[in-house]
Amino acid sequence: MPSTQSSSSAAPTADAFPSDFAQDVLEGLTQSPKKLPSKYFYDERGDKLFQDIMHMPSYYLMNCEHDIFEAHKAAILEAIGYDAFQLLELGAGDGYKTKVLLEHFLEAKAAFQYQPIDISPNVLEELEQSLHKLWPQLDVQPLAGDYFEMLHRVSEETAVPKVVLCLGANIGNYPVERAQRFLNAISAELNSGDKLLIGFDLKKDPQVILDAYDDPEGITAVFNLNLLRRINRELDANFDLQAFRHWETYNPVTGATKSYIVSKAEQHVFIKALNRSFHFAAWEAMDVELSQKYSLEEVEGLAEATGFEVEQHFTDQKAYFVDSLWRVK
Ligand code: AVI
Repeated sequence: MPSTQSSSSAAPTADAFPSDFAQDVLEGLTQSPKKLPSKYFYDERGDKLFQDIMHMPSYYLMNCEHDIFEAHKAAILEAIGYDAFQLLELGAGDGYKTKVLLEHFLEAKAAFQYQPIDISPNVLEELEQSLHKLWPQLDVQPLAGDYFEMLHRVSEETAVPKVVLCLGANIGNYPVERAQRFLNAISAELNSGDKLLIGFDLKKDPQVILDAYDDPEGITAVFNLNLLRRINRELDANFDLQAFRHWETYNPVTGATKSYIVSKAEQHVFIKALNRSFHFAAWEAMDVELSQKYSLEEVEGLAEATGFEVEQHFTDQKAYFVDSLWRVK
């Protein structure tokens, strides 16, 4: 009888693996149900596909947050309330949305230094150059490294109040308990009165959510299946992409929006870097991504549970998305 577990032959020991990627894939594919971590979506092709997703009409998240900043930039600065502050951004990317705030803060003559934090020095360099072209007067001090180490460093170096930006719905890619740990770790690195502006995608018409993650053009499907392509390329595997499909679900009770990769037939896949073959039953699903949706009450509960108090919610006209300004208690 076919097993739902992977079959193995001469599995190498953990320290023999060439990369975290290999170890995470092994760990994920030997669980039941199988899992693949969505953080590995973002190779070069994955980055491009994600850019395409962000420009899809059905992926409303990006435009909502942009609209929130356009509509509420003055109110956001007023609610920040400090004459001088250190503006830190976790995972700054290309700064598309942040630029709306930066431009307003400069026009309003706010006294601030902008410190984008990212693990990738290349991302930061590109961002710094594009900001310098736009606003040579903007004081940008990028920090490449781990979010918490960098926050810790800034806290030790300056007593100026800090405003941390955690934009997009990135927090939604964590299960709620992990989001809590992440937010607790942020509040632990900040001082009382420091602020956090954080984006959450809100619970809404389930169809709107499903359309964002199961778009008619099939771009999200290609994005998700690109993970198998990456395993083929980087770990020398033989996933047949045609033999798997993308499947999306939204649970309106819990707010969990989940992406699966489903095997369309019984098959074995060999991953050379792991020297191991994995069995897939027909219609067996791998768990690949969570995009958690919240109610405003749940956002408030999360703030309360992690050392913050909510100062103000900024939502778009349809109330699809919220950027919530929190203050460290
Ligand atoms: C990066 N993150 C916030 C996106 C999301 O909405 O969960 C990733 C994504 N996955 C599929 N579409 C977008």
